[in-house]
Amino acid sequence: MKIIVLGSGAGGGFPQWNCDCAQCGGLRRGSLRGSTRTQSSIAVSGNGRDWVLFNASPDLGHQLRQTPALHPRPHDGARRHSPIRAVVLMDAQIDHVTGLLSLREGPPLSLYCTPSVFEDLTTGLPILPVLEHYCGVHWHVVPVAGESGEAMFEIPDCPTLRFRAVAINGKAPPYSPARRDPVVGSNIAVLVEDAATGERLFYAPGLAEVGDAEREWMSGASCVLVDGTFWREDEMPAAGLGAKLAAEMGHLPQSGDGGMIAALREVQAQRKVLIHINNSNPILDEDSAQRHELARHGIEVAHDGMEIEL
Ligand code: MLT
Ligand code: MN
Ligand code: ZN
Repeated sequence: MKIIVLGSGAGGGFPQWNCDCAQCGGLRRGSLRGSTRTQSSIAVSGNGRDWVLFNASPDLGHQLRQTPALHPRPHDGARRHSPIRAVVLMDAQIDHVTGLLSLREGPPLSLYCTPSVFEDLTTGLPILPVLEHYCGVHWHVVPVAGESGEAMFEIPDCPTLRFRAVAINGKAPPYSPARRDPVVGSNIAVLVEDAATGERLFYAPGLAEVGDAEREWMSGASCVLVDGTFWREDEMPAAGLGAKLAAEMGHLPQSGDGGMIAALREVQAQRKVLIHINNSNPILDEDSAQRHELARHGIEVAHDGMEIEL
């Protein structure tokens, strides 16, 4: 299985357009050693030809231009083509779904998402009805809803990959009626298994907590690619960037007793990689103590264009 990190940043990317914090400003001025990051999304393939996108960020157009594996390879005299076979959505957040609009010039979109994400994308943020006026959307239900917290699904164009979705705690988007009271299916994590090799990827760019279920799913994976949004719980207020705590945004910070570093210590995966990193997070500074601390724990930080082969 091949994985390409199209974007490794959280909402806003890095540096964020309107931010002159120590990190965003430092990167612009060249005083911080780090790299620019677009908003998070990955592409996964079992055969190197047919690809599935996990989330479609508003930076998708740029990300596709930067990624030769996802360039068109038309055949039989055609001029247009895309190796993107399907898009799987982990939630209905703006930074994860608005890139769908950038795929409107192609054939009908093959979209995999839960009923609650579908609901948000047809009401509060009606991207899917809008797309009916362009390419159209074929919705494939990922049946994580109500009593059903787990589901398997297949993507016919990628027959060597198997997909398992699991409901995770998180937040529905600010515009969603479910914001205050997320429902089962507002946020999922996905385990992708390569049927040929048995290798597994656990993907969860938004993860509010690591409970027994999450730990078990991660332990069965060869690679975990998980929420790296914040280093500390009060990172935004402490940097004067906003009032919200990490928990209020549905993200588990890396530091602290119950943080992601502690959680990953019990996970056996060969590769532990953080993604969806907010511009406020000191791990974006390659010379920071926090970045060194991650390295000591064998935890990597995803970057745009990173390729992982399992
Ligand atoms: C989040 O995950 O909370 C976001 O990155 C917020 C956003 O997209 O603005
Ligand atoms: Mn986000
Ligand atoms: Zn900033």
